[in-house]
Amino acid sequence: MMKETHSTNIYPIFDRMLGREDKEALLKQHSVMIWFTGLSGSGKSTIAIALERELNKRKLLCRILDGDNIRSGINNNLGFSAEDRIENIRRIAEVSKLFIDTGIITIAAFISPNNEMREMASSIIGKDNFLEIYVSTPLEECERRDVKGLYAKARKGEIKDFTGISAPFEAPSCPALSLDTSKLSVEESVNLLLELILPRVQNN
Ligand code: PPS
Repeated sequence: MMKETHSTNIYPIFDRMLGREDKEALLKQHSVMIWFTGLSGSGKSTIAIALERELNKRKLLCRILDGDNIRSGINNNLGFSAEDRIENIRRIAEVSKLFIDTGIITIAAFISPNNEMREMASSIIGKDNFLEIYVSTPLEECERRDVKGLYAKARKGEIKDFTGISAPFEAPSCPALSLDTSKLSVEESVNLLLELILPRVQNN
């Protein structure tokens, strides 16, 4: 469910501005949205950072948008209720679209816990631009790692609505790629991603 919109009497300008193709020609690349979804601690951010480095080495310009970073800035007024998570993802998708339209390969690492939210993101950004990557590391492994100590707090009831413990996570039904970091190294995950992404973004 989207929030009520207040955008009446608004006239966006597009026709006189340079478009995505002009930006892509300048950057000598094609943009794409790489949307990681998965539980907290599944490895989304680690893979996103390693992927960005590999793309950067190939002179491809990227931008990472990541849960904790975005939630301490543009989305610092949002919590983890179902409604706030939808608004979180909506704003992230709108920001991502700006990057995509600037020709930049955009990498998002958010739990984005259900199909409805991910479909909303995909429809804002454009389905043809959107690659859904499921970081499918099982809950037991995420909880075993508990890098930030959040699972222990959630089990003690100190964090409410914690994904996988007291809030739901719905696995994507048809992701472009699934990466289980309990079985794959970061390097193996990145190599699989590069196989998928490079043919789409390189502009030789
Ligand atoms: S969502 O569901 O997409 O809106 O979440 P996201 O913006 O990706 O934020 C996830 C990070 O927030 C921290 N955190 C929580 N996660 C889940 N549930 C609850 N209740 C919660 N409270 C705080 C946590 O550090 C998540 O980071 P990651 O990188 O996923 O571990």
